[in-house]
Amino acid sequence: MTMPGVAAYDPLDVATQSDPYPLYHALREAAPLGCHERLDLWTLSRHEDVAPALHDHATFASDAAALSPFDRFLGIREAGYVAGDSRRHDALREVLRPLLGATAVERLQPEVEAIADRLLDDLAGGGVADLAAGYARRLPVLVTCALLGLPEADAPAIGGWVDALFGRRPGLAEVPPEAVAGLRALWAYLEDHAGAPGGMATLAQAADAGAVTREESRDIALILVAAGIKTTSGLIGTMLMRLAADPEQQRLVWREPALGRGVVEEALRHDGPAQWVARVTTRPVVTAHGTIRAHARVLLLIGSANRDERRYADPDAFDVRRPAVRNLAFGSGLHFCAGAALARLEARVALQALIARTEAIEPAGPVERILTPAERELARLPCALALR
Ligand code: HEM
Repeated sequence: MTMPGVAAYDPLDVATQSDPYPLYHALREAAPLGCHERLDLWTLSRHEDVAPALHDHATFASDAAALSPFDRFLGIREAGYVAGDSRRHDALREVLRPLLGATAVERLQPEVEAIADRLLDDLAGGGVADLAAGYARRLPVLVTCALLGLPEADAPAIGGWVDALFGRRPGLAEVPPEAVAGLRALWAYLEDHAGAPGGMATLAQAADAGAVTREESRDIALILVAAGIKTTSGLIGTMLMRLAADPEQQRLVWREPALGRGVVEEALRHDGPAQWVARVTTRPVVTAHGTIRAHARVLLLIGSANRDERRYADPDAFDVRRPAVRNLAFGSGLHFCAGAALARLEARVALQALIARTEAIEPAGPVERILTPAERELARLPCALALR
């Protein structure tokens, strides 16, 4: 596990947050099992190592108790009930099914389409629109309100709390007070809206039926808000950024909107919103690249695995016609993203609604990123819209 000339992965380093891909490449080549000694943090970066680790939850555990040392990085994010590997986790997945299963997501489609259309109405007035702040970032908050039965008027406040929740001060491991305040505000808000219709009512019924406790049902609501908004915003923003910057690929997609599904998968693979998931080893693990001790904190670098040249041809290229090869952007195995179908739907609808309104989109100013230890999201994506 020597790392000749390769820096260890540091999720707090802002240069890495802004572009982790050159470091991922170096790690895959020279240090597929990496270790940041000061942070006491191990990393796996090759697809052939990350994929099996995601499936081996007996060895690479995401038990909330075991993960508590990660609080420095993740704050409250992983400390929910959904993170556990226990049978309780199965019960919680059951509770989520009526909200996020295929039928539920299909039912939501007309509402997602209406939201995308309304947001584009707001943007279509002027020549230049911010497709991150005005579209990618707003759409998932409104969809989450629709999913949970929360008032749309609260969307800006909810979006603000979620931003605060994920915010970290550059280079600092500690969870800042704003993030804790964001969590408390969101928690209090969900308490106040426990009697809301829609998804909140479904969660309340699960508690009434004894499938989960009241506290757990509130935790699940919080996890849905926290897990679904920034990730989906990141996916839509990054996908539109790539298409805006590449007129040739854009023309292909605009001419053949049926490519939409593949474009969403390519955006997930190429620069997915969640760059890693955290695990703790339950025993010493012998890998082809060295041994990880027991109780080690390991980041499975899914963002790197998705660019692994051993699995994907020309992995750094964004190619809307890339043949479908499964990627790890939503994780894999027991904790595979419960909201994957909804996120895919939102991204596809966002793209298709934009294609229906515009002949083309073109970059019209500097792109701004929101930097956090694990997520990829855009704050600003100014684009000139050539309206139909
Ligand atoms: C593009 C958007 C999204 C991405 C990239 C993403 C990514 C992920 C990943 C990588 C995991 C696995 C975590 C782990 O293994 O530790 C996960 C889990 C989860 N996601 Fe997502 N997610 C997205 C959208 C959503 C949405 C829209 C929702 C719900 C509204 C959601 C709800 C969840 C939940 C509840 C889990 C926990 C599943 C479990 O532990 O069994 N996600 N997500």
